[in-house]
Amino acid sequence: MRIKKRRVSCRCFQVPLVVLGLIFLTVVTFSLFDTGPPKPLAWHVDPIHRKRVHNFVQDLLKSECRPTFARKGVEARLQFSFPVTDPFLWRDTMLTPEMFKYPPPFGFRDMRGNLKDVLSLLPAPSEQQKKQCRRCVVIGNGGILRGLELGPLLDQFDVVIRLNSGPVRNYSKDVGNRTSIRMSYPEGSPMVWEDVDPDLEFVAVVYKAVDFKWISAMINRQSVSLWDWLFFWQKVPEEIPVDLSKFRLLNLEIIKQMALDLLDLPTPQPRLWGWDQNVPTLGMSALNMATYLCDEVSLAGFGYNLSQKEAPLHYYDSLPMTAMLKQNMHNVDREKTFLQSLVKEGTVSDLTGALYCTFCPS
Ligand SMILES: *[C@@H]1O[C@H](CO)[C@@H](O)[C@H](O)[C@H]1NC(C)=O
Ligand SMILES: *[C@@H]1O[C@H](CO)[C@@H](O)[C@H](O)[C@H]1NC(C)=O
Ligand SMILES: *[C@@H]1O[C@H](CO)[C@@H](O)[C@H](O)[C@H]1NC(C)=O
Repeated sequence: MRIKKRRVSCRCFQVPLVVLGLIFLTVVTFSLFDTGPPKPLAWHVDPIHRKRVHNFVQDLLKSECRPTFARKGVEARLQFSFPVTDPFLWRDTMLTPEMFKYPPPFGFRDMRGNLKDVLSLLPAPSEQQKKQCRRCVVIGNGGILRGLELGPLLDQFDVVIRLNSGPVRNYSKDVGNRTSIRMSYPEGSPMVWEDVDPDLEFVAVVYKAVDFKWISAMINRQSVSLWDWLFFWQKVPEEIPVDLSKFRLLNLEIIKQMALDLLDLPTPQPRLWGWDQNVPTLGMSALNMATYLCDEVSLAGFGYNLSQKEAPLHYYDSLPMTAMLKQNMHNVDREKTFLQSLVKEGTVSDLTGALYCTFCPS
C-alpha cells in the first residue's frame, strides 16, 4: 500500500518536471532565433534603371491581358503529367491515388487520416465571380526589390501573391500594400500579421506530418500542443487571423508537378531515414499555383543581380547577398535556369529583371 502510493506520487512529480523542461527548452530555443526587427541594409538604385523598370511594368499593365496564357506556356513543357484539377484541396475534394504516391511535400503518403481531418475543417469551394482575365504577380523576398519603388505598380495587379513572412508594413513603397494570397508553411508564416485585405486568402503548405496539427490548430483558433512544438525547426505563429472561408490547403500535386515534371528533379527515393528528395523553393510552387489561378503571371523579387555582391539578399533585412547559405535542400541552379527560360520565351515576365532582364540595355 505504502509503496504503491509512493510510486504514484513519483509519477505525478515527473510529469510536471518533463513539461517544465520542455517549456524551458522551447523558451531558450526561441530566444536564440528572436533577433528583433531587422534593419534594412542601405542600398542605392540608379534612377535611370528605376525608370526603365517602371516603364516596363506600366506597359505590361496597359497591354491587353491574354486568357490562359501562362498555363498554356507551362503545359507545352509537360508531357506525361497528370493534370492538376484544382490547386487547392477542399472539404469535398475527390482524393485520388496519385495524391498519396509520395510523402510531403510531393503527396500525402501515409497521411490519409491527417489529411481527412484537416479537409473536414475546410470550406467547400465557393463559386466566386472572377474577372475575365486576371494578372497575378508573385512577389519573392529578394533584395532586388529594394529601392525600385514598385509598390504602387505591384498593387495594380489583379492578384498579389506573397510568400512566407515577406513583410508589407514599412516596405510598401517597394513591395506595395495589397495581399490577395499569402502562401507559407508553418515555420515561414508571419509571427506578426500585417495583411489587412478583406479578401486575403491564406494558403497553407504541408511539408511534414506535424504541419497538419498546426493547420488544424490555426483553423480552430487553438494553440499547438507542447509536444507538437518540438517538431518544428523554428518558432511557428500561434494565430493566423483569417476567416475560415479564406483558409486554403495547397494541393501537393502543384509541388510535385513543379519538381518532377517541370524542374525534372529526381523522383523521391525511400532511404533508411526518411526520404531523399530535392524540394523546390516555395516561390517555384507559388509560380505553378499562379498559372492555375491567373491568365498572365509576373514575377518580382526573384533571382539576384550577380554583379552586385553587396546588394541585400532580402528586401527587408540586413543580410548581404554573400551571406547566402550553402544549402542542399533546394536545387537553386536548376530553378534559375528554368525560370530564365520561362522569361526568355515570354511565358512569365520578370518585373525586376534579375532572372532575365528583357528591358535592360544590352
Ligand atoms: C516600422 O518602422 C518603425 C519606425 O522605423 C519601427 O518602429 C517599426 O518597428 C517598424 N515596423 C515593422 C513591422 O518593421
Ligand atoms: C497603400 O494603399 C493605400 C490604399 O490603396 C494607398 O492610398 C497608399 O498610398 C498605399 N501606400 C503605399 C505606400 O503604397
Ligand atoms: C545589375 O547591376 C548592374 C551594376 O550595378 C546594373 O548596371 C544593372 O542594371 C543591374 N541589373 C538589374 C536587372 O538590376
